[in-house]
Amino acid sequence: MSISTNSSQPESVDQNNLPSLIWPDPSPLPRFSHPLHLGVMASGNGSNFEVLVKATERKQLDASIDVLVVNNPDCEARRRAERLGIPCVVHDHRKFSSREQLDQALVSTFKKMSVEGIVMAGWMRIVTPILVEAFTDRLLNIHPSLLPSFTGLDAVGQALKAGVSITGCSVHRVTAEVDAGPVIAQAAVPILCSDDHQRLSQRIQSQEHKLLPLAVAIAGQSWRSQVNSGVEG
Ligand code: GRF
Repeated sequence: MSISTNSSQPESVDQNNLPSLIWPDPSPLPRFSHPLHLGVMASGNGSNFEVLVKATERKQLDASIDVLVVNNPDCEARRRAERLGIPCVVHDHRKFSSREQLDQALVSTFKKMSVEGIVMAGWMRIVTPILVEAFTDRLLNIHPSLLPSFTGLDAVGQALKAGVSITGCSVHRVTAEVDAGPVIAQAAVPILCSDDHQRLSQRIQSQEHKLLPLAVAIAGQSWRSQVNSGVEG
């Protein structure tokens, strides 16, 4: 898909030197009295899952990824978990008769693992109040647009079609409405005249990989402050 606007862009743009903005950007990331215990949900490639694991390994993110749950037995995310030594549970959505039953299984898995928070990192199923209410404020999602713009499927294609100059990615708390919960952090990504779907998706994903550990750490601070002030999560 080519872009119809942005005609005022300079002829040559250094793709490796584009302005970027991630906000908020707490640097260095906060430390916790003991590492955050996290679960991750993924359906496909799992690059964001791997980024989180690597961020914990190099101690950028003070957390432990205790479990990955996938809904596709044959997804790359599952293979990454095996390679990285992270326990992986498969809840194949085709084996459940309703979204609610799938979500009940997710809740059981995450409760059993005693996770404090969950990151939906490329989870391609709509979640129900069963999961959202079991982990109120503790369920995060990453979405490839600057929310509230371009919710739902193919956010990158929507941004290209709309002809906007800047898009990006967002990490937000999950509520019952799809891609509508409060935003925790966002990264801006300029759209170039030369962009197509693949090129823009790749640049957005590079920013996702920087954004996600930051956003999880920000969310973790609020989870821990709730615990410290006696509010049950
Ligand atoms: C990401 O672009 C994320 O924004 C969207 O799904 C994609 C997952 O990518 N929700 P990956 O599986 O982490 O590589």
